[in-house]
Amino acid sequence: MHCVSNEVVKEKPTSVGFLTGINKNMKTYIITGCTSGLGLEMTLLLLARGDKVICMNRRKITKLNHPNCRQILGIDCTLIDAIQEFDGRVDTLILNASPNLSGYTLNEAESEIDEALDTIVKMHLKLFNVVKKYMHNKSTVVGVSSRLGSITREYTGANVHLERPQAYKIAKAAFNMLLNIIASESGFKCHVIHPGYLNTKMGGTDGTSPNVAAYNLIRYIDNPHRYCEFKNLETKEVIPW
Ligand SMILES: NC(=O)c1ccc[n+]([C@@H]2O[C@H](COP(=O)([O-])OP(=O)(O)OC[C@H]3O[C@@H](n4cnc5c(N)ncnc54)[C@H](OP(=O)(O)O)[C@@H]3O)[C@@H](O)[C@H]2O)c1
Repeated sequence: MHCVSNEVVKEKPTSVGFLTGINKNMKTYIITGCTSGLGLEMTLLLLARGDKVICMNRRKITKLNHPNCRQILGIDCTLIDAIQEFDGRVDTLILNASPNLSGYTLNEAESEIDEALDTIVKMHLKLFNVVKKYMHNKSTVVGVSSRLGSITREYTGANVHLERPQAYKIAKAAFNMLLNIIASESGFKCHVIHPGYLNTKMGGTDGTSPNVAAYNLIRYIDNPHRYCEFKNLETKEVIPW
């Protein structure tokens, strides 16, 4: 198991703190959407502690040029080659990519729903189906979701003050179901995580640093947890489905 502390970190962690007691057990991660924000920061932290990362991106970026990193642009034979190169096994699959959408009404959602479902649901379903044969009984699937995907919060009005794209909310709710089905069908340990409001392209400048959120997320999934919970990483609360 990787060695990280158990406290919630609120400020930017130092790399020294993160690397303390490091990683005698190098793992292979596949992460989607690593060109910016949370995906990029998770990748950089994992590479810094000696793990291997296969990044599923739409484009290559120089920040990820690293001997233990492969940037893959499609779910095809280049992905399989990268997995084979990294010992033919995948320990953790992190489904993180999401488009940045802006339609707050159902009329606007119509033009965004295809992109939302294609990326958040269909791409991740396809990726899981390809990757699952390289996973093992201790492998983990992590869905980076959003509290906006909580049907209960929508139903009870808890999401009302959060103006967010409707197509995004619909796709994240479907994504949460996908993660639950993956958990029940495959038996892999699954986590569904709301990472908090982040200072990224998708979030706002008053949000949490994605470096801090990445640290907290990796520390959370390093340790054993209850089966497929929908967790708010910032508050540590369990979000109702
Ligand atoms: N930011 C927040 O406040 C917040 C709150 C709750 C949940 N989240 C979740 O956290 C995750 C990370 O978001 P972030 O804040 O880090 O946003 P971000 O900086 O905008 O990163 C989104 C990533 O997804 C990629 N992406 C988008 N569409 C894609 C596609 N069709 N195929 C492949 N990659 C695609 C982007 O790549 P390109 O560079 O190619 O566009 C980028 O790498 C998302 O799942 C988001 O829903 C964020």
